[in-house]
Amino acid sequence: MNRLNNKVSVVLGGAKGIGLAISQRFAHEGAATWFTSRRDEELQAAAATIGNNALPLRADVSQQSELIRIMEKVQAESGHIDVLVINAGMSEHATLEQISADHFEQIFGLNVRSPVFALQAALPLLKPGASVVLIGSIADVIGSEGYGVYSASKAALRSFARTWTRELAPRGIRVNVVAPGPVDTEMMAAASEAFRQGIISAIPLGRMGTPEEIASAALFLASDDSRYIAGAEICVDGGLTQV
Ligand SMILES: NC(=O)c1ccc[n+]([C@@H]2O[C@H](COP(=O)([O-])OP(=O)(O)OC[C@H]3O[C@@H](n4cnc5c(N)ncnc54)[C@H](OP(=O)(O)O)[C@@H]3O)[C@@H](O)[C@H]2O)c1
Repeated sequence: MNRLNNKVSVVLGGAKGIGLAISQRFAHEGAATWFTSRRDEELQAAAATIGNNALPLRADVSQQSELIRIMEKVQAESGHIDVLVINAGMSEHATLEQISADHFEQIFGLNVRSPVFALQAALPLLKPGASVVLIGSIADVIGSEGYGVYSASKAALRSFARTWTRELAPRGIRVNVVAPGPVDTEMMAAASEAFRQGIISAIPLGRMGTPEEIASAALFLASDDSRYIAGAEICVDGGLTQV
């Protein structure tokens, strides 16, 4: 406990699923925890479970103007950011024949363009010693029928972590990726039962992960325990892509 005492954290997409578990964990570890959702009800419900350190922010993080607005608010009220987690992401099934311009733009807009402008907007607030945690996916290295655009978006994010490490390490800012395997959240609930069962049968540990298990890896990368880790990807996938 208290591994993030006196730290200021921001979790983009922090009111449900994996993001909520990260917000809860960071707040429990002592960080003032700003977290976003597009909906007030979700923010209020999440804040109640996060506790004293919860700082809700209503925002659509797919919009650059919203990202600039919330970073200005964080700056005005907290002055700086020690830990930025970029978690908001979306997935939708579409085979090559089914991919539409909207499908492509929505997924790349949220999973790739939003992290670029989020980090750009946050950069003036990130102090030397700050940690940026990108929530990627093991989809960045595997081929799954119907998830081409999603997988490519997460591969792009993984690539940005390498470039941003080169650009930001000289300023004392570390950038790393947590790549979850299948985790039972709303996003995974949308996949077909056949897809879910097929993927579970391939996981060496024999089950999906929990949001809390992903939050543990995010906490490690956020904290000083990982101070010599930069540009890396930690796969939290029950061994799925490791063996
Ligand atoms: N679940 C898995 O199996 C799995 C596996 C690998 C990677 N991941 C990654 O983990 C992250 C979290 O996923 P999850 O499973 O926790 O999903 P989730 O429960 O569906 O949560 C999605 C998050 O993204 C935000 N979001 C969704 N669509 C948005 C949009 N159009 N504009 C702005 N924000 C939007 C949501 O914010 P609101 O509160 O505003 O809705 C929410 O915070 C994602 O980046 C996902 O790709 C998940």
